[in-house]
Amino acid sequence: MAIGIDKIGFASPEFYLDLTDLAQARQVDPAKYHIGIGQDEMAVMPQDQDVVTLAAQAAAQILTPAERQSLDLIIFATESGVDQSKASALYVQRLLGLNQAARAIEIKEACYGATAGLQLAYDHLAAHPESQRVLVLGADEARYGLQTAGEVTQGAGAIALLVTRQPRILELEQPSAYHSEEVMDFWRPNYRQEALADGRFSTEQYLRFLDLTWADYQTKTQRDLTDLAAVIFHIPFTKLGLKGLRQLTATASAAQQADYLALFQQATKLNRRVGNLYTGSLYLSLYSLLLFGHLPAGARIGLYSYGSGAVAEFFSGRLVAGYAKVLPTGASVLQQLATRQRLTMDGYQHLFNAQLPTDGSDWTTPQQSRQTPFRLAGIAGHQRLYQNNGGTIQ
Ligand code: CAA
Repeated sequence: MAIGIDKIGFASPEFYLDLTDLAQARQVDPAKYHIGIGQDEMAVMPQDQDVVTLAAQAAAQILTPAERQSLDLIIFATESGVDQSKASALYVQRLLGLNQAARAIEIKEACYGATAGLQLAYDHLAAHPESQRVLVLGADEARYGLQTAGEVTQGAGAIALLVTRQPRILELEQPSAYHSEEVMDFWRPNYRQEALADGRFSTEQYLRFLDLTWADYQTKTQRDLTDLAAVIFHIPFTKLGLKGLRQLTATASAAQQADYLALFQQATKLNRRVGNLYTGSLYLSLYSLLLFGHLPAGARIGLYSYGSGAVAEFFSGRLVAGYAKVLPTGASVLQQLATRQRLTMDGYQHLFNAQLPTDGSDWTTPQQSRQTPFRLAGIAGHQRLYQNNGGTIQ
């Protein structure tokens, strides 16, 4: 029985910073950001958006009324959770009127969380013939801090994956290969809004785990690189994915390397413009590959997922005939990005510093987003208040 990704939705804040402006402000050669890091723009989260509103927006794009009522598992992967106890999935369930005869949970393992969710969805559908579909959400805000080495690798956004039997986009294959080890490469203690990262060490771990999981994938599946039409990666910044690709294709012919590189460039087109989504980044890269890579039906895609801390997984899937019909056009997604508001450095720093109160006081959020269907309206009595496009505060 084929199980996999039936639909993909994507949402990102309507504000962004051009990284040439950041380079000038930080007195860095812009080529370091555009070439050395491989990023052009980064999404900036306003106060009236959070992971719940972005995930709800991404899911609303893809779910029909019938699908909303037939989900029986809603998995929300994030490392930017809005509550220490309550699952963000429950807010999304209410905002979108999703089926209540469902399990709704939040999971966390840094940027690996959405992959854990996807595999859990697969297992759920395989184990429960009566279950029809699972919603997997991956949403984050990547925050390292002003004037830090990681600043240029920030971003924000959400991915929604509808997982079903007989999927219309990508049939997932088993087995996959995974590896975990306790590593202090990137973490965020409860008292901090910004991540702590041992940046270069984290890139070494990413590449070391790639070696381990790729070797294990080959052993388990008896496949090699020639079985993969394209390989995509978790993309905290595109240069790191490129290093991963070079490592994986080191012994391939020059022509094969050029083919993989051409597809990698299509698969990182959106990531370059949005920045790091943490757990959604691999799936934004998948979305980008599907929109711009023009791969044929049946093509096998290798996916490398990495979450600091650290857990990694190498797995694969095959494209289903007609997958492009279930997706928007690449041009329409680029057009959507083009409607975003470019921030000045002052505007970016203002939004970055303007955090919600942490002392328990009530708060009304200024209306900053104009195009988004859901807003965080404020906080009252320690409860987050969300507003839908009809204006109702819930
Ligand atoms: N023109 C072109 N390239 C230039 C250049 C110029 N003028 N100046 C520098 N460069 C190149 C450098 O040669 C270097 O290239 P290589 O990596 O190929 O050697 C690249 O630009 C970066 O330069 P530095 O190493 O000097 O950059 P840095 O020390 O300022 O920081 C970083 C880089 C460590 C990645 C930092 O951005 C960071 O800490 N980021 C956050 C951590 C992170 O994203 N880690 C990824 C793995 S963890 C993970 O994946 C989970 C997650 O999502 C966070």
